[in-house]
Amino acid sequence: MPRNTGLKRIGLLGCGAIGTEIAIAVDSGKIPAKLTHVFDFSKESSALLVSKLKNKPVITENVGLLAASPVDLIVEAASQDAVRDNALSILQNRKDLMIMSVGALLDESIFDIVLEGCKDFGKHVYLPSGAIAGLDAIRAVKDELDSLVLVTTKNPKALKGAKFFETSEIDPDKISKPTVIYEGAAQEAVKLFPANINVAALLSIAGIGSTKTRVKLVADPNTDKNTHEIEASGKFGRLSIKVENVPSSSNPKTSRLATLSAIECLRKICGSEIQIGT
Ligand SMILES: NC(=O)c1ccc[n+]([C@@H]2O[C@H](COP(=O)([O-])OP(=O)(O)OC[C@H]3O[C@@H](n4cnc5c(N)ncnc54)[C@H](O)[C@@H]3O)[C@@H](O)[C@H]2O)c1
Repeated sequence: MPRNTGLKRIGLLGCGAIGTEIAIAVDSGKIPAKLTHVFDFSKESSALLVSKLKNKPVITENVGLLAASPVDLIVEAASQDAVRDNALSILQNRKDLMIMSVGALLDESIFDIVLEGCKDFGKHVYLPSGAIAGLDAIRAVKDELDSLVLVTTKNPKALKGAKFFETSEIDPDKISKPTVIYEGAAQEAVKLFPANINVAALLSIAGIGSTKTRVKLVADPNTDKNTHEIEASGKFGRLSIKVENVPSSSNPKTSRLATLSAIECLRKICGSEIQIGT
C-alpha cells in the first residue's frame, strides 16, 4: 500500500523561547511536519525566529489570520491571555491546538469553553507534560487520589515580575536564603505566578482539580535549577517524583524539559510511530 507522506502543517502562536525551539525542531526534520505560519505580537520576535529557519513560514499580520490559515494544528507558546483570547476561534477554524500556557485552563469557564469547542468542532487539544514527569501515573490514579502536593523551588530571579510581588512585602532581590514564599491551592498559585507554575495547572487537570492540589513555592538564591517535587498518595499507594530542571538559556522562567516535552508531544502527534506511555 502506498504510504501517506502528507506532513501536518503547523501554525505557531508565540515566537519566544519555546516557540523558537519548536520551530527549529520542525525545520531540522526532528518533528515530521511543516511550519507554515507564525504570529507573535512582537514583530521583532517573529522576524528573529524566521531568520533562524531554512524553510521560511509566513508571518501573519494578526492572530485571526493565523487561526484562519491553512494549517492542521496551532501550537500556542505565548501566554495565558493568548489562550483565553484565541483558543475557541482556533477550534472554530477547525484546527487542533497544542497549549503550553496551561494555567489559563484553571479558569473553569475557559476550560469548559475549550472542552465544548473540541466536541463541537471535532478537534483535539493537546497539553504536553511540560516541566514535570509522572503525569501519566497521576492521570491513571486520579480516582484514588487523597492528596497531591507540588513543591517548586526556583531562584528568586526566575520569579521576578510575578503578580504575587505586587501585593507582597517580599522583595525577590533581597532573599538571601531558601524561603517558602507561597503556600496555597493551585488555582490561586497560577494566578499569582502565571509564567512560572504551569505544572501546577497540569497536575490539577490530570489529578484532583485545582482547589485540592496544593502548591508550595520556595525561592532559593543558591539554586540554578527549576525543581519540581510531586507527592501523591491515596488508595493506590504513594508516588514521589522529583525533577531538577535546567532553565532554558533564553528564558530562565522556562525549563529546558518543557521545550523538550513540547517537541516530543509534537513528534507523537505528527509522526506515525509506536506510541509509548499512557
Ligand atoms: N506547560 C509547561 O510546563 C510550561 C513550561 C514553561 C513555559 N510554559 C508557558 O509557555 C508559554 C511560552 O513560554 P516561553 O518560555 O516561550 O515564553 P517567552 O516569553 O520566551 O515567549 C512568549 C512569546 O509569546 C509572545 N506573546 C505573548 N502573548 C502573546 C499574545 N497574546 N499574542 C501573540 N504573541 C504573544 C511574546 O511576545 C513572546 O515572544 C508561557 O505562557 C509559559 O508560561 C509552559
